[in-house]
Amino acid sequence: MIPQSFVEDLLMRVDIVDVVERYVPLKKAGANLVARCPFHQEKSPSFTVSPTKQFYHCFGCGAHGSAITFLMEHGGLGFVEAVRELAGSVGMTVPEESLRAARDPHAGAGTQPLYEALARAAQYYRQSLKQSEAAIAYLKGRGLSGEVAARFGIGYAPGGWQALAQVFPDYRATVLEQCGLVIAGEQDKRYDRFRDRIMFPIQDRRGQIIGFGGRVLAHGEPKYLNSPETALFEKGRELYGLPQARPSIRAQGRVLVVEGYMDVVALAQHGIGYAVATLGTATTAIHAQTLLRLADEVIFCFDGDAAGRRAAWRALENTLAELADGKQVGFLFLPEADDPDTFVRREGREGFEGALRERVMPLSSFLIEELRGRRDLGSEEGRANFLALAKPLLEKIRAPGLRLMLRKRAAELTGLQADELSSLYGPAPTAPLRVAAPAPTRRAGRVAPSLARKLLQLLVFEPRLVEAYGADGAAGARSHLADVLSLCGRSGWCGGEAQALKAVLEFLRDHPQISHAGPLVEHFRETGHGALLYQVEQEVLQWGEDFAVKQEFQGALDQVEALLRHEKIDALRQKGLGALTSEERQLLQRLLREPGQAEKNQG
Ligand code: UTP
Ligand code: MN
Repeated sequence: MIPQSFVEDLLMRVDIVDVVERYVPLKKAGANLVARCPFHQEKSPSFTVSPTKQFYHCFGCGAHGSAITFLMEHGGLGFVEAVRELAGSVGMTVPEESLRAARDPHAGAGTQPLYEALARAAQYYRQSLKQSEAAIAYLKGRGLSGEVAARFGIGYAPGGWQALAQVFPDYRATVLEQCGLVIAGEQDKRYDRFRDRIMFPIQDRRGQIIGFGGRVLAHGEPKYLNSPETALFEKGRELYGLPQARPSIRAQGRVLVVEGYMDVVALAQHGIGYAVATLGTATTAIHAQTLLRLADEVIFCFDGDAAGRRAAWRALENTLAELADGKQVGFLFLPEADDPDTFVRREGREGFEGALRERVMPLSSFLIEELRGRRDLGSEEGRANFLALAKPLLEKIRAPGLRLMLRKRAAELTGLQADELSSLYGPAPTAPLRVAAPAPTRRAGRVAPSLARKLLQLLVFEPRLVEAYGADGAAGARSHLADVLSLCGRSGWCGGEAQALKAVLEFLRDHPQISHAGPLVEHFRETGHGALLYQVEQEVLQWGEDFAVKQEFQGALDQVEALLRHEKIDALRQKGLGALTSEERQLLQRLLREPGQAEKNQG
């Protein structure tokens, strides 16, 4: 492995604008530079390069990364090659032994060898399909043309335990295990994971193969075998069929979410190209984010059985927080015993799109109908219970308009006046930790982000804040950052945002040389915080250079302090005034007297 510190130094020295400009002509647009995206076909430029934050981002296809990623994605270089090329351009030398180690796949170097092995296997499976009459007959029997099979790269894994040994001369290479193609069994036995199965390659959003799903031809268990989660493949993030669907999603402004590989492929066969699948897992919040970024209209189409309805409810729960006014999310429930594949094969494109026009249930109706079905609104108890069920769901919604509409509907259904509902639910809309001047985010109409997210945004925007506020010179500031750290991990502050915040703070504290988002986000790219930071990075991309980052940061730190103070006050109060020692009583008085934020900011 090339030491992370070297990569960070390198990214500090190179300028991403120089790197990108060698390949793509850039035009100035405010603080950023823009171009037509080199990673997908487009007419108007949505590819943006940020010189201050040292990353690029395409609002059209989601391509995103640092100078290193750009050379990898655009120039087709491996990680090591990209690092070497960049290092050369600024006169740095890559440490030699680390290079040797990185070139040796046994040393567990980067992810490039995994991509290569998977691509190689996919090619082999495609070839094997041509030689298997049974597999071809199976696909034909399911109504697929050769053209569509090719578009999705469908292949066939032959029977036999070590068929892959034909394409990988070093069948014992650990990379084959690491990417999930080979299973290491007992007594040093190794064998192919996929045997005698129709193979569906799973690609990431850039079209690189990251795993496979394999279906039995006849009957057998399991029906589908999937790649395990690997360094490249994390089920909860990926959407099957996305690279193939992207042009159609853009053209239609809508994306259809189904459950299975065959659903996506059969819909494409019938001219409905904008479908992707969640691969039999629940729709996660990451899925929801990706989907809502892809199109303004997202339709979940699940099987018409009880399991389908449960899956839809999970999707709803995980989508609520990602909704924005101006986006539409709906659910299409197919007739019992149908799935999108059987439905479109029977009813054709017309029939399917007719159902999309006429039978899609808006998310809001699904939410209300489902809750209504669970409680008897004919009794006081039932109505009270309905309101209790709805409350946490409505609180997740950050789209103010939709939240208001649903509160209104909940009030109507239970016969409450708006103010009565407010006494139960709190005033609408509640943004518990609203920051004074919310930063503009990509999605208009959103309420302010949580305090943890706000702090993350600010640190991604300006990592040096940690140094500035942590330095001994800044009076009292050190304790502020310590306060934030002490808050992270406590009740209410243990979510993904708080955890990422803690990790970022600790990382920046130990790496004071980091001065912009590029190397920061790069460092976390393949960790559990990668997805969140990626998103945060996008959110700050549009903040202007004149953004008052220091004031915002100070404001956020004040809120942290206030939060901690209230926590102490509550704890003391809970003891009961009588039970306090005289010191505690003094402390309480002092805490209660302490100046509010406004006065303090003036001082
Ligand atoms: P379904 O059972 O609905 O499969 O599972 P399907 O897509 O309709 O399959 P066909 O039509 O019988 O070929 C939906 C998805 O759940 C995952 C797969 O991703 C599948 O496409 N699944 C299902 C598994 O991972 N393993 C299984 O054993 C079954
Ligand atoms: Mn099916």
